[in-house]
Amino acid sequence: MSRSIETRCIHGNSDFSCQDTNKAVSFPIYQTATFGHIGVGQSTGFDYSRVQNPTRQRLEETISALEGARDTVAFATGMAAVSACFELFQPGDHIICSEDLYGGATRLLQTIGSKNGLAVDFVDTTDAAQIRAKLRPCTRALYIETPSNPMMNITDLHACAQIAREQELLLIVDNTFLSPYLQNPIELGADIVLHSGTKFLSGHNDTLSGFLSCASQELADRVRMIAKTTGGILAPFDCWLMLRGIKTLSVRMERQQENALRVARWLKTHPKITRVYYAGLPEHPGYEINARQARGAGSMISFRTDSVETARRVLEKVRLITFAESLGGTESLITYPVLQTHNDVPQDMRERLGITETLLRLSVGLEHVDDIIADLKQALEE
Ligand SMILES: Cc1ncc(COP(=O)(O)O)c(C=O)c1O
Repeated sequence: MSRSIETRCIHGNSDFSCQDTNKAVSFPIYQTATFGHIGVGQSTGFDYSRVQNPTRQRLEETISALEGARDTVAFATGMAAVSACFELFQPGDHIICSEDLYGGATRLLQTIGSKNGLAVDFVDTTDAAQIRAKLRPCTRALYIETPSNPMMNITDLHACAQIAREQELLLIVDNTFLSPYLQNPIELGADIVLHSGTKFLSGHNDTLSGFLSCASQELADRVRMIAKTTGGILAPFDCWLMLRGIKTLSVRMERQQENALRVARWLKTHPKITRVYYAGLPEHPGYEINARQARGAGSMISFRTDSVETARRVLEKVRLITFAESLGGTESLITYPVLQTHNDVPQDMRERLGITETLLRLSVGLEHVDDIIADLKQALEE
């Protein structure tokens, strides 16, 4: 019988957290750069920590167990994982992306990606016809975020998987916003699942990391070769922090999501809020697709204020919620996408997407929901 996800968060698919002779319950941090050889041409399985390290291996196995992946490679940040992912392609290859991606991914594609000869189209992937309209003979991949950052648009992963299969494209899904606790894109046909582990997986706003989980060993071997060659891997102590954070992923996600629904419903009633973007509200255009492909809507909410002044006042007046970039941790954070996460996205693209000066993004944390709402309420007062 396969294990429940709560159990996999703690033990992965292993029987005991550690095979070490002292039976440490918490997996040890192998804080070593290198490993001694037991003889010429012989190895313990670990030679040099850039290539592999036991703590990292344990973490990668845990993420694979959560995502239903064949293999996972851990990186120093989410962006290191995104960069490594695009190293899979050749000059002249064409990639179709969701148009409201995390701004760092858009920047990477428009600068380094373009320097490396990648052609990219940013389209509204909530509409499969728009994806099909951009297909070229040299198209090699679909790169999707769902829910997207920061507009919370929902893309139908099943429809994308069908196009990817027909056209022999790689389907790459950034699963950062829902985490493997709520969504498993590989089960829906994705080839690669990407995470900024800095967010829900770490869960405590204290560690950066990134992951590429692959559906096939062939793909994972290529990613591992890129990681070993370019070197942006995750250090042993950070791997251990990630393992510790993931143990509580299930309870954090459940409570944060519960809080988010209450906050979203409250925001909808406030006269200074003109729109709430949260895939857990039945009026959200992607509600049904999200409900079909995920086990919840997570705890990310974007909302629009009645004026730029209101938006700025909220950012400056929140006391419990921190005005900061990032998301997914125990502390609630509020972000100004137009000046922070999406500042490098070209202005015309931002405006088309609705990333304007009245849009705020809220990562609902684990504080008591009444305190989160009270903080927003006082910040919205004149
Ligand atoms: C959806 C998404 N993907 C990727 C990243 C990049 O991750 P990192 O900041 O860990 O490099 C982020 C960062 O905010 C993100 O929100």
